[in-house]
Order: sequence, then C-alpha cells, then structure tokens
Amino acid sequence: MATPHKIAVIAGDGIGPEVVGASLEVLAAAAPQCGLDYELTHFPFSAAHFLETGHVLSDDDVSALRSFDAILLGAVGGLPNDPRLAGGVIEKGILLKLRFELDQYINLRPVSLYPGIETPIKGKTSEHINFICVRENTEDLYCGVGGFVRKGTDQEVASQTMVATRFGVERCIRYAFELAKTRDRKHLTLVHKTNVLTFAGDTWHRAFQEVASEYPEVETAYHHVDACCMFMVSKPEVYDVVVVPNMFGDIITDLGAAIAGGMGIASSGNLNPDGAAPSMFEPVHGSAPDIAGQNIANPIATIDSLGLLLRETGRIKENEASIKCGEMIGEAVKKVTPKFEGKNLDRSGFGTKEIGQMVIESL
Ligand code: NAD
Ligand code: IPM
Ligand code: MN
Repeated sequence: MATPHKIAVIAGDGIGPEVVGASLEVLAAAAPQCGLDYELTHFPFSAAHFLETGHVLSDDDVSALRSFDAILLGAVGGLPNDPRLAGGVIEKGILLKLRFELDQYINLRPVSLYPGIETPIKGKTSEHINFICVRENTEDLYCGVGGFVRKGTDQEVASQTMVATRFGVERCIRYAFELAKTRDRKHLTLVHKTNVLTFAGDTWHRAFQEVASEYPEVETAYHHVDACCMFMVSKPEVYDVVVVPNMFGDIITDLGAAIAGGMGIASSGNLNPDGAAPSMFEPVHGSAPDIAGQNIANPIATIDSLGLLLRETGRIKENEASIKCGEMIGEAVKKVTPKFEGKNLDRSGFGTKEIGQMVIESL
C-alpha cells in the first residue's frame, strides 16, 4: 500500500472555496473506489487573509508546502484595482511566488471541446478543438525585472523586461517535444513574436530548432502570437501541442478557454515535472468576484485540475491508485458535460454543488 497522498489545499478567494469544495467532494467519493489513501491540509493564503492579518505567504510557508505531494489551488485575488491590493501583492506574493520558488516551470493547459459543450466558433467540433498548451512558467515578463525612474513626474520612465534564459527555454521546449511524441498527431507549434522580439525570440527559435533535430518523429510549425490568436478562432484544428512563453501563454489560454466553452472548463497544472518540489493544480480562471458566494461558479475546471493532479503526481510518485483515481475523475467529467448541451457553460443554471454531485454520480 502506498503512503497517503499528502495534498495541500489553498482554496483562496471569491469562488475559490466553492469550486474547491465541490472538487474535494468528488475526491472523497472517488478515492475509496480506487483504493487511494490521501490526507488534506488546508492553508488560508488569499487576499481575504491578507486584508485580515497582513500576512501574504512567507518563506517558511513555502518550506512547509514543500513537504506535500501536490497543491490544489482555487483562485486568489480580490477586486481588480482594489487600492489595498495594489502592486500585485496577492498575485505576485502567492501565485507567482509558489510557481517560481517550487520551480514549477511548466504550466500545462489543455484546450479540449468536451462532449456536449458548445463552442462559440461556428461549425467546429471536438475533432477541431483538441490541443494542449505548454506555457513556460518561470521566466519572461513575469520575472519582475524593471522599475521606475522619476516616478510621478512628467518625465516618468517605466520598464518591464522580458527574460529568456537558454536553460529555462530549452527545458520547456524539451518537455513539449516529449509530450508531442506521446500524442497521436505528434505535432508541435512554437508560438512567439520573433519578428519584433528579436532577442528573446531568437533564443526561443534557435533552441526550438536544435531540440527539434533530436525528435525527427515530431512535426513542427512556428506561428507568431497574433496569427495564433487568429488561427485559434478560424482553424483551431491546426494545433496539437503548442509551446509558448509565459506572457503570451497567459493570454492565449484565456482565448483557449473561451473556444472550449468558457472559463468554467479550463484546467491547468503548474508542474515541477522532475518531482523535486510539489506541483500545483488550479483552474485557469480567477476568483470571479462578480459571482462569488452565489453557488453559480462552474467547478468543472477545478475538478478536472484535481484529476490532472492525481494523474501527474501519481506518475511522479509512482502511485497507481492516484493515477487510476485521476483517470476516473477525468472520465466522469466527460460523462457530465453532455448535460450542458444548449446551455452557456459558465451560466448554465446548474449550481456549483449540483455540478459536483453530477460528477460524483458519473464516477
Ligand atoms: P476571472 O477569471 O476571475 O473572471 C472572468 C469572468 O469569467 C467573470 O465574468 C467570471 O464570472 C467568469 N468566470 C470565471 N470563472 C468562472 C467559473 N468557474 N464559472 C463561471 N464563470 C466563471 O478573471 P478576472 O475577473 O480578471 O480576475 C478576478 C481576480 O482573480 C483578480 O484579482 C485576478 O488577479 C485574479 N486571478 C487569479 C488567478 C489565479 O488565482 N490563478 C487567475 C486569474 C485571475
Ligand atoms: C493565470 C493568471 C495569473 C497569470 C495571474 C493571476 C498572476 O492570470 O494563472 O492565468 O498571469 O499567470
Ligand atoms: Mn491568466
């Protein structure tokens, strides 16, 4: 019998606790069916906790989180532009700090049109929308390199620097080739903006070409990010695996969520693929303050992220029961989505808890 799967839970703000609550009920129902033994530990890190106590996330907190097998996160962040949360105190102080400190260098974001879900793109089906984005997760504009000169004067200068290290870029590209190799189509597209970002883009382009020569079985393509946005809408079927730097990856995966039906379906994993530190799984969406506390939020993105957590950490920790449980949850979600036929996925009229129960009944 494997040791219990130790999962740290950061429910966070807004709809975070609602969608995480529904997901943990699914876990409680699925685990015994797979012989999965697990332990949950809840942490309060969030904007609400910061406003109440002044505490964001300390280095000791990060050390404590290192002892877990994985982290499940709902969403953190308050109302956009709340002056008490200025300077990205929560987003940088919790989310990015964890991604960086735990070296979760891959942000895996599937874009799949599930059975019964309607895409806003006319004439496209699950056959056309079925790809996965590999977003680099520790570099680029997210490093926080930059600053102000003469702030507050009319000569104010603000700079924000895009960082691409050969090491960081190459490990991400390698991960993407390995992933592409396992898929039916074996196709990988690099997305960047090499026509303008001629330094960072060049590092990405050369690393991509060099690694590609080691993977002759993988077919490759390159798209500028603006064209990628256009293709994601006009012919999403061109994509199988997409590898993309951090900032562009953030943007195109919200577009990905929209073409796959809405924010309520988009799951993600911040992976430390080598298992040197825990990986963290979360929906792509934020804390959605506009619908918080109303039992409206769709928890499928978080339930699917939990499935990914169990499959990925099961692989890293060689825990078969975890992999089986993750697969079971993923399949149950696909049995539930046909019930959304003809509805708006994000405002379906089904309650958060009700959707969780629908998944449980489909296990
Ligand atoms: P958001 O994703 O929270 O919401 C955008 C829109 O999508 C809203 O209309 C919302 O109602 C809808 N939506 C999102 N998730 C939904 C769900 N599960 N079901 C139904 N509808 C859903 O983005 P935002 O409004 O730009 O950001 C709100 C806060 O969340 C900000 O503080 C932001 O910084 C933070 N944020 C956090 C994360 C994270 O923790 N990973 C990610 C993105 C944004
Ligand atoms: C996401 C979010 C975060 C990001 C923010 C909240 C820091 O938008 O996970 O997509 O930009 O990565
Ligand atoms: Mn985002």
